[in-house]
Amino acid sequence: MWLRSVIRPRPERRFEVRELAPDELCERFPDQALWIFSGALGFPRDSSRVRSFADTIRRHTGYGGFRAFGALNVRGRLVGFSYGYSSQPGLWWREQISEPLTPDERDFWLRDAFEFAELHVHPTAQGRGLGSRLHDALIAAHPHATALLSVMHRSAVARHLYASRGWETLVEDMRFSTEPQTAFSILGWRRPAQGKTP
Ligand SMILES: CC(C)(COP(=O)(O)OP(=O)(O)OC[C@H]1O[C@@H](n2cnc3c(N)ncnc32)[C@H](O)[C@@H]1OP(=O)(O)O)[C@@H](O)C(=O)NCCC(=O)NCCS
Repeated sequence: MWLRSVIRPRPERRFEVRELAPDELCERFPDQALWIFSGALGFPRDSSRVRSFADTIRRHTGYGGFRAFGALNVRGRLVGFSYGYSSQPGLWWREQISEPLTPDERDFWLRDAFEFAELHVHPTAQGRGLGSRLHDALIAAHPHATALLSVMHRSAVARHLYASRGWETLVEDMRFSTEPQTAFSILGWRRPAQGKTP
């Protein structure tokens, strides 16, 4: 008994994972969100990809069903976040990823779906379980039957995280019109039947 409590991994206590109000990402933590995004994906902080992400967050927070979670250190600094929203016909990402799906797949995966839009942890805080907690909190919070996301082929840790949580590959090699040189996969999560664990 004593030995088990010594070797069991203890939850990381120097960080808090909590829900963020829709405006917190862009009003309270705008610089920290961009710092995390650029650090996690390896884009220069002053690149257009990072600067335009500020507008992207602002737009996404206005979508129906928006939910977000943040990981904060003891000083209250944001070091990671996850967010998503209800998928609606006409949204750009949904239209792109629905193209390679069959009509049956579209019906199943898009009828009542959550777009799991972002999950990032700054490199200084990675490997402590925060990405997993941010993922699990967002999945637990949304009410939809399915969830969908795109992940870059090069994001090996993210792909491992999603595979370990039951995400299925719907499209192995997806190219978006905005960055056709980057290989993504489209993954889908289905709500487990009641009484079953994922
Ligand atoms: C993906 C990401 C959010 C994971 O965050 P994290 O806090 O490091 O993740 P965790 O500590 O919870 O680890 C998740 C899993 O990956 C494993 N892992 C973490 N870092 C790893 C590393 N450097 N090498 C190999 N495996 C690693 C963990 O062991 C854990 O696996 P387990 O559940 O089987 O034990 C983070 O790496 C990140 O921000 N990456 C860049 C952005 C990105 O790709 N986002 C996803 C967009 S779809």
